Amino acid sequence: MLTAEDCEGFLRDELRRLWPGMPVQFLAPRLLICPATSLSGAAPATPAGSGLPPLVFARQFLPAAQSVSVDSIRAGAEVVFAAITASLPDRQSWLLHVAAHYGAANAGEHRCRLIRESVLDRLQRQRRGLRRALAPDTAPLTTAHSVVQLLLIAPDRGLLSLAVAPRPFQWRRVLAPFPKGWVQPARDLAAPCRAFAKLVEAEARLGRRIAAGETCVDLGACPGSWSYVALGRGARVCAVDRSPLRADLMAHPRLHFVRGDAFRFVPDEPVDWLLCDVIAAPERSMELLQTWVVRRWARHFVVTLKFKGAGGYAELDGLKRALPPLTSEFFLLHLCANRNEVCAFGSIAPPPGDDGAPATNAPPVSASSSARG
Ligand SMILES: C[S@@+](CC[C@H](N)C(=O)[O-])C[C@H]1O[C@@H](n2cnc3c(N)ncnc32)[C@H](O)[C@@H]1O
Repeated sequence: MLTAEDCEGFLRDELRRLWPGMPVQFLAPRLLICPATSLSGAAPATPAGSGLPPLVFARQFLPAAQSVSVDSIRAGAEVVFAAITASLPDRQSWLLHVAAHYGAANAGEHRCRLIRESVLDRLQRQRRGLRRALAPDTAPLTTAHSVVQLLLIAPDRGLLSLAVAPRPFQWRRVLAPFPKGWVQPARDLAAPCRAFAKLVEAEARLGRRIAAGETCVDLGACPGSWSYVALGRGARVCAVDRSPLRADLMAHPRLHFVRGDAFRFVPDEPVDWLLCDVIAAPERSMELLQTWVVRRWARHFVVTLKFKGAGGYAELDGLKRALPPLTSEFFLLHLCANRNEVCAFGSIAPPPGDDGAPATNAPPVSASSSARG
């Protein structure tokens, strides 16, 4: 597993809390190995379909990684080609990540590009069905996707991991469709602040964006960059904060501002999205999230949990147990755009017997929605 930056110790502790006694070793900075047998089947499948619980500080998972020699571009391409052609069926979607994890920031990038091109070139000549089935990186995973990863840990050595469908989908909480699990934080100078990058990344990882006509409640919304994203997508937003948002957003016809306490806000009717970036103790934000999920006040949620940066992450274990049975998708991750924060995002499971029809035709979040305090 690749950990998030500066989070090696947090992931090691997280794994040890989940699987006491599991041997965990560092192969390189941010690269941690543990026996695959301890992970697979270690956790029961949930409605979210994952046999693995969320691992907050895991950026990318390379299941059953094998050490391989990559003396040359040709040798690297050969080992990947052989693995792909032996294991993947023609015409079934797959992703190919060739990335480097050694030296300075961009070390190995060129080498990786050449290996990838060489693999694709060979497939084009010898296995066109497989070449055509290659999905773009970042394609949201489905049960039909396989994922092949070659991670160079030195110029001449790599880890090769091949996860055949439907495994990547089942492991999607820790196995991302993004090479090395990295999502470049979005930039937009017109946004009121940079916090919007968290929401954009959560959407990308969820494989679902706020859509036109949907309704959002944005708790702790000031100065307004999350509302800015939602409005930009064509949604209607009820923004709750003790302070007003940037003036242009306050005047926006699809934004309704409620001055008050995010923790006491109750929507008049369920909305499509709960967005919450309130600065508060993590246990308060977790309790708020659980209330919204249990009461099904939203269909999807993106909630920031703020920490002081020195740990305390064991508190998240309760959420890892409580939310999977109530959700159809649940991610709990330290995002690339997060600092001392963790992001909980996902979709709430429809009640039994419900056909899951979207609530987008519900009336807008009404002006009478209140937040006292
Ligand atoms: C990190 S900022 C949110 C930034 C916002 N997501 C954006 O992108 O512009 C946190 C906000 O939470 C608000 N806040 C903190 N406690 C609150 C509470 N109990 N009720 C409402 N808002 C609160 C603060 O006023 C602050 O504006």
